[in-house]
Amino acid sequence: MAFSHHYLLIFALCTRYAESADPIAQYCNEFSNTTTPEMTKNIDSVLTKLVQNTPQTGFNLTEFKTEGTTLLGLAQCRGDVPSENCSTCLQTAAKEIRKMCPNRVDARLWYEYCYIRYDTTNFIGDFDMDLRVVYYNVEEVTDPKTFKKTLLEFVKPLGKVALEPDSKGFAKGEIKLSDSVTLYALFQCTFDPSKYFCEVCIEAAKEGFRYICENKKGCRVIYSNCYSRYELYPFFFPN
Ligand SMILES: *[C@@H]1O[C@H](CO)[C@@H](O)[C@H](O)[C@H]1NC(C)=O
Ligand SMILES: *[C@@H]1O[C@H](CO)[C@@H](O)[C@H](O)[C@H]1NC(C)=O
Ligand SMILES: *[C@@H]1O[C@H](CO)[C@@H](O)[C@H](O)[C@H]1NC(C)=O
Repeated sequence: MAFSHHYLLIFALCTRYAESADPIAQYCNEFSNTTTPEMTKNIDSVLTKLVQNTPQTGFNLTEFKTEGTTLLGLAQCRGDVPSENCSTCLQTAAKEIRKMCPNRVDARLWYEYCYIRYDTTNFIGDFDMDLRVVYYNVEEVTDPKTFKKTLLEFVKPLGKVALEPDSKGFAKGEIKLSDSVTLYALFQCTFDPSKYFCEVCIEAAKEGFRYICENKKGCRVIYSNCYSRYELYPFFFPN
């Protein structure tokens, strides 16, 4: 486990905003080792590779080994994001993650369209539910009881779709709530060989929808291993 404290960060925002401009969550592990000049070079090299290699498939892992240490980098774009937008997002993320965490070897940065992370400890297979970020629209729905019931019923099977072998941990969907209102939801697991981690993470995200997002018109629940979001407006790329 990379850190043992329990983090719960809640950001509130008013309404719609530029989807891709600002990070939605960030984490710089102040308990991790400080960077040496050599490690700084390794980090830069891993980030450069991630920016190059990720947009084609939407996911990449890159390792950099030097005597005694391994630096592991991961990048992932949201499953519906086209490669050029994935690339733009990662270019920004790779710059910002260095500014946000210049002196440590464990950093994570989430944008709406992409997620980037590096660490000198191997986090693959690390079942890490400690870091949770909830990001919601402060506006509330007018019919909380019906809305919550519909939301939870809708995301139940949607979360299962993300676990199907062909889904690669990604699922999105929409449902009409009335003639003029549609609910959009999305789940994505960070690439990980374990379906079990994905399942537990999505379950936790759904609990977040139920107990933290409450009656908000839109909400995101983010863990290191999965991302989930619902809104009453379309936020996916058309495909
Ligand atoms: C990362 O990208 C490189 C270069 O395209 C590729 O060889 C490698 O298989 C990718 N790794 C993963 C885990 O996708
Ligand atoms: C996606 O990328 C294209 C090409 O760079 C750009 O024109 C478009 O504005 C981007 N869309 C979003 C929502 O960022
Ligand atoms: C942190 O630095 C110490 C001393 O250089 C080293 O022994 C240890 O392996 C490092 N830990 C990690 C997680 O890289």
